[in-house]
Amino acid sequence: MECKEKLKKYQEKIKEYNILDFFRADAKRVKNYSIHFNDIYFDYSKNYINKDILNLLMECANQNHLQDKIKAMFTGEKINITENRAVLHIALRNFSKNPIFVDGVDVMPKVREVLQKMQQFVEKVHSGEWLGFTGKKITDVVNIGIGGSHLGPAMVTKALINYKVKGINMHFVSNIDADDISSVFKKINAETTLFIIASKTFTTLETMTNAHTARNWFLSQNASENDIQKHFVALSTNKSACRDFGIPSENMFEFWNWVGGRYSLWSAIGLSIALAIGWTNFEELLHGAYEIDRHFEHAPLNENIPVIYALIGYWYRNFWNYSANAVIPYSNELATLPEFLQQLDMESNGKYVDIDGNIVNYPTGQLIWGEAGTNSQHSFFQYLHQGTDIIPVDFIGFISAFQEVGEHHKLLLSNMIAQSEALMIGKSANQVETELQSQGLSQAQIEKIKQHKVFRGNRPSNIFLLEKLTPRALGKIISIFEHKVFVQGVLWNVNSFDQWGVELGKQLATKVYNEINSVEVLNHDNSTNYIIDMIRNKK
Ligand code: F6P
Repeated sequence: MECKEKLKKYQEKIKEYNILDFFRADAKRVKNYSIHFNDIYFDYSKNYINKDILNLLMECANQNHLQDKIKAMFTGEKINITENRAVLHIALRNFSKNPIFVDGVDVMPKVREVLQKMQQFVEKVHSGEWLGFTGKKITDVVNIGIGGSHLGPAMVTKALINYKVKGINMHFVSNIDADDISSVFKKINAETTLFIIASKTFTTLETMTNAHTARNWFLSQNASENDIQKHFVALSTNKSACRDFGIPSENMFEFWNWVGGRYSLWSAIGLSIALAIGWTNFEELLHGAYEIDRHFEHAPLNENIPVIYALIGYWYRNFWNYSANAVIPYSNELATLPEFLQQLDMESNGKYVDIDGNIVNYPTGQLIWGEAGTNSQHSFFQYLHQGTDIIPVDFIGFISAFQEVGEHHKLLLSNMIAQSEALMIGKSANQVETELQSQGLSQAQIEKIKQHKVFRGNRPSNIFLLEKLTPRALGKIISIFEHKVFVQGVLWNVNSFDQWGVELGKQLATKVYNEINSVEVLNHDNSTNYIIDMIRNKK
């Protein structure tokens, strides 16, 4: 029998079990279902899993040649088959001396060269050697990008706010809605502002529109075309488009087509991060990711954090039919991590065609969502505890705060621990009844409200606990998620590295835009025609 058949049978067998039964049956459950790796503690004991299930999940991973595929990625094979590209974000943080070849050429010298160029630039900006067109020091940096050229840098910069370099204010513009960039113009002075145009392709409509608006705004502030080189830099794979925009090659920081957009914060796309937190801290971020890369590549599957994490997600998605996964960082700084993970996970694995071009007959991908704790406890946690759907939750916490203020941090962590426990243990009708009796309620009153206060519990969660939210720790967290997405892509047999699903909307938007600006007869469906007409007539 195939591993999938066996897992289906297993699910049937244990679907009425309670996670607490697993704890009762195994006094060493926590030790057996957790991993310590350097300063990361990953507790996956509060799940519907046992050794048999994990073994079957690994069997599925082996059937899909997981280890060969990990090797293929790390050695630069062109695993992104629809674009005929290697997938080498791991090369961007490869601190070993080992070469990595693409088409017979070692990519590492170029990677190091760009990192060095970035470092020199960052240090010049910070020291004041790089000056604006009126001889003033740069105080504001505006990153213009979208998707992978925005979410990673914006998330990391916010997460590492405690490491912020003094005297540099960061701004991120992504939306084509003019309100986004206009609100930034109100806060900056052209003489002291550096614009970073971040776009892998340098063709993305939103980014190019915002870039041209920024350029026009800059020129309207008593600056000339010649001054552009002091205030605009580009991060891209498209040299000629950068030149056409007016950015000279010295101001261009290159990366390569084997860096996927959503995996690009480690590349030149990370320039805004380095400007925000300084070069040493940026390198620390890369080192954190490198540590996990080594772990992912070499640890046995049953001690491998990204692998186990991915297998648990696959188990829930494909055998329990749970289509969503909440990620809740108990850290205000990490509030935008779920947003970043949405692109990472959903753009990678939201695919119904497998790598061989077949329509799959099983679910793939999942809805990733979340928000920082404790805020989220007061918004959607009701749904997690008593909603009709079960959503596995992944908690992320840090033992120490960046700066301890009174009891805040202990209270924050207490909430995280309590939520994970509450999801699992729930509250029985008997407990509710005893509680209400002790409050002096009559039996009639108790019967009326009892069921509303019952928590079924038995809802799974994982906990990631790290020492502190440092650049290195954040590098590790992101790398765990990247590799988890990779493993799940292998299990689902999809290409996690293309994103054709976003193309159609882009093409149609261009057509609609041209039609809004013309009087030609519309031949869409009636709904689309009517709305275009309303916009044309502004009513
Ligand atoms: O949304 C599609 C997408 O291609 C993403 O994959 C990418 O991160 C984003 O657009 C931005 O692309 P670029 O960096 O080329 O501007």
